[in-house]
Formats: sequence, C-alpha cells, structure tokens
Amino acid sequence: MILKNALELYGNTIETRLILKHVLNISDSDFIINLDMEININTDLAAIFNKRKQGFPLAYLTSEQFFWKHNFYVNENVLIPRQDSETLVAAFLEYFPQNSPSRAKGWTASPDGVVESTLISILEIGIGSGCLLLSLLDEYKNSIGCGVDISSEALAVSLKNAQNLQVDSRLRLVQSNLFEKVDGVFDVIISNPPYISPEDTDIADDVKKFEPNVALFADNNGLFFYEKILEQAGAYLKKDGLIFLEIGYKQNSAVVYIAQENGFKHLATKKDLAGHDRAVVLQRV
Ligand SMILES: C[S@@+](CC[C@H](N)C(=O)[O-])C[C@H]1O[C@@H](n2cnc3c(N)ncnc32)[C@H](O)[C@@H]1O
Repeated sequence: MILKNALELYGNTIETRLILKHVLNISDSDFIINLDMEININTDLAAIFNKRKQGFPLAYLTSEQFFWKHNFYVNENVLIPRQDSETLVAAFLEYFPQNSPSRAKGWTASPDGVVESTLISILEIGIGSGCLLLSLLDEYKNSIGCGVDISSEALAVSLKNAQNLQVDSRLRLVQSNLFEKVDGVFDVIISNPPYISPEDTDIADDVKKFEPNVALFADNNGLFFYEKILEQAGAYLKKDGLIFLEIGYKQNSAVVYIAQENGFKHLATKKDLAGHDRAVVLQRV
C-alpha cells in the first residue's frame, strides 16, 4: 500500500498523519513529498489504527506529548502530561520571577533578592515523565533537581527526557517510596501525586484502562499522598521554602486543611484554564 492510500483508508485527519509519521519515522516535509511512498509490508497499520479505535491514547502511539515548551517522550509506564499541570509551572514562575532583581514573592533565599543568580534546589515527589521538574530545570538554568518515583520504569522515561532537554547534569533521580530514600533539604518541593479516589466514577474509561494505576489512584478519598507528603515535607524543606502541589479540582479545602494541620502557610490556590482549582502554593514557616 502507498501512503496516499493509507490516508484515504484511515481518514485524512491530523491524528492519522501524526500516527503515520511516527510509525513510518518520517518528517512533516517528507510526508508531503512522499505520498506515493510504498509502506513497508511488515507495518501492521490496521492493528495500530484498531488499537487507537479502542481508546489507546494517541500520545502512547506516537510516544510523545507536548508540555509547556517541549515535546516529552512518553510510554505506558508514565502518566501522559496534562495541560492542567502547566498551572503548577506557571505558579512556580510567578513565585520565582526570572530576570527580576526584586525578591520573589514570599521568598527570602538570597540577601540581595536576586533570584536570577540564586541556585534553586527542587525536589519532585512522583516525577513520572519529568514534565514538571524538567520544564523547571529548563526554565531556571541555575537550578538543580531531585526527582523521585516509586516506579523504575517511570524514572527511565524521565532520564531520557532529561537527556533530550540537556538538563540531566543538574538532575538526580531516586527510586523511592515518597521520601524514604531522599537525602537533603531543598528550597522547593513540587508534586502532582496520584489523587483520584478509587471510588471516583467520573474518571474516563480510557484513562483507567491505559494509564498506570500507580500514577492515578490514592486512598482516603484521593487524599492519601497529600497527607503523607505534608506530614514529611517539613524535614526536607528549608525554612520559608515553598511547596507547589497539583490538586484535583474539588480538593482545595481538604488539602489546605491538611497543610495547615502540618504547620504550612497557605499562600495561594491557582486555577487552571478551565477555571478549576488546580495548584496550591504553601510555605514552611
Ligand atoms: C500523577 S503522576 C505525575 C507524574 C508527573 N509528575 C506529571 O505531572 O505528569 C504521579 C507519579 O507518582 C508516582 N508515585 C506513585 N506512588 C508513589 C510513591 N509512593 N512514591 C513515589 N512516587 C510515587 C507514580 O509512579 C507517578 O509517576
């Protein structure tokens, strides 16, 4: 079969083109000029498009997902980066303004207040693909990061992405259950932990079926990881240090309550583009 016929057969849509480009390993321009190209007989396109029809995520088929400013490599061992999670990155940028001589909001890291030249150490619990921490390491060239995940397969994905973004020299990866194997005290802790209650019926079937359960579900009505992280975070965070947590859109008051019970000050809750509460900013006082 030639490429043009495959497009007719599977529908000439952006998605079909993305899948074909990935499977045949050809660039945009090659695609346009090679419509008469013969497709390797061993490529089982029917099986691939059938998989997609069953709800298998496009990002897993093309092995990539765009997040913040970069394409991230993904596979079935990591949560597919969500646009909602960019709320956390945007909040971080607000609290650590780049190229600004003024002191970052709520931050007293350097005596002269020059954030640009201040080294920021960031710990992420549950790094997954790396989309959050690696985007921050890319934004702040003077930052260093420690990324923790319980899944060694997820850590392999974040390492690959760190190498692609050329931030791997500033990143340490640790396989650990939460803080168990973490050493050190950090300026900032970030996390987008699993926060879906196993009883939640709102979750899309495709998400439940194809994305890793370890990245999705949390006991105690989805609050288990917030409780554990906030109970322990104080020991790994400098005084005045900040915590940025992604939250489910109905979890703001519960997470703020847990944070305050553990002695953190609630600085802000940031909304995603849909207007839902999505990230809380906390401070160790
Ligand atoms: C919701 S995903 C977030 C992934 C990525 N940071 C993002 O925002 O797309 C949660 C991550 O936490 C990891 N995780 C789950 N339980 C964990 C635990 N007990 N300790 C460390 N990481 C854990 C999962 O493997 C998964 O990569």
